Amino acid sequence: MKFSLNVDHVAVLRNARAEENPDPVTYALMAELYGVDGIVVHLREDRRHINERDVRLLREQLKTKLDLEMAAVPEIIDIACDVIPDLVTLVPEKREELTTEGGLNVIDNVELIKDTIDQLHDSDIPVSLFVEPDLNQIDAAAEINADLIEIHTGVYANAITEEDAFDELERIRQAAIHAKKLSLGVNAGHGLNYSNMKEFMAIQDIDEVSIGQAVIARSVFVGIEQAIKEMLNLINIK
Ligand code: PXP
Repeated sequence: MKFSLNVDHVAVLRNARAEENPDPVTYALMAELYGVDGIVVHLREDRRHINERDVRLLREQLKTKLDLEMAAVPEIIDIACDVIPDLVTLVPEKREELTTEGGLNVIDNVELIKDTIDQLHDSDIPVSLFVEPDLNQIDAAAEINADLIEIHTGVYANAITEEDAFDELERIRQAAIHAKKLSLGVNAGHGLNYSNMKEFMAIQDIDEVSIGQAVIARSVFVGIEQAIKEMLNLINIK
């Protein structure tokens, strides 16, 4: 399983004082040195954390890969087609694009999402759709030529009882198996941390996890190198 680091929260801290530090680009380059397989940023319409300068500099400087999370809106699609990240992950930013839990509602927004995928494919950008572990949503993603899905793991991460966590893990496992049968790549993320990764690692069909908050927060206490190495160790334990 690979590990991509989401550095949005570094930009949240920078923007809190409208200053230059901490710079998410510098953080991302250090994270690469310490072994992450890629960097994820979410360029939001409201630019609440990552901005265009960050995305363009990351595109220039990264040696691994850049996964640009974004909504299916014309302004951001134009930026993506200009920057050409290694992957675009389409995510919901507005309530009506959501399922109740948080992934994209591909079924109800099929035309908009298909048009967006087509535009990004015209620029040779592979596209992932952030979805719930729901087989119907995954079927819809495959039908409109998504290359990958990213399974939303927030329900698993927020489960209060062990039984609920186990049930959700099983849904994720079945969703990953289903997606693989449809020849989709399978990523996963949201709310994964140092405690819940151990059980999560038992799922075989996930190619990559995208983790932000837990690692950025831990690095405040132990430094970037140690925070990343601890997560890489967890992910690499079989
Ligand atoms: N994947 C997606 C699509 C996300 O939107 C986020 C949160 O920005 C993550 C993964 C990472 O979640 P977390 O910060 O909880 O690790």
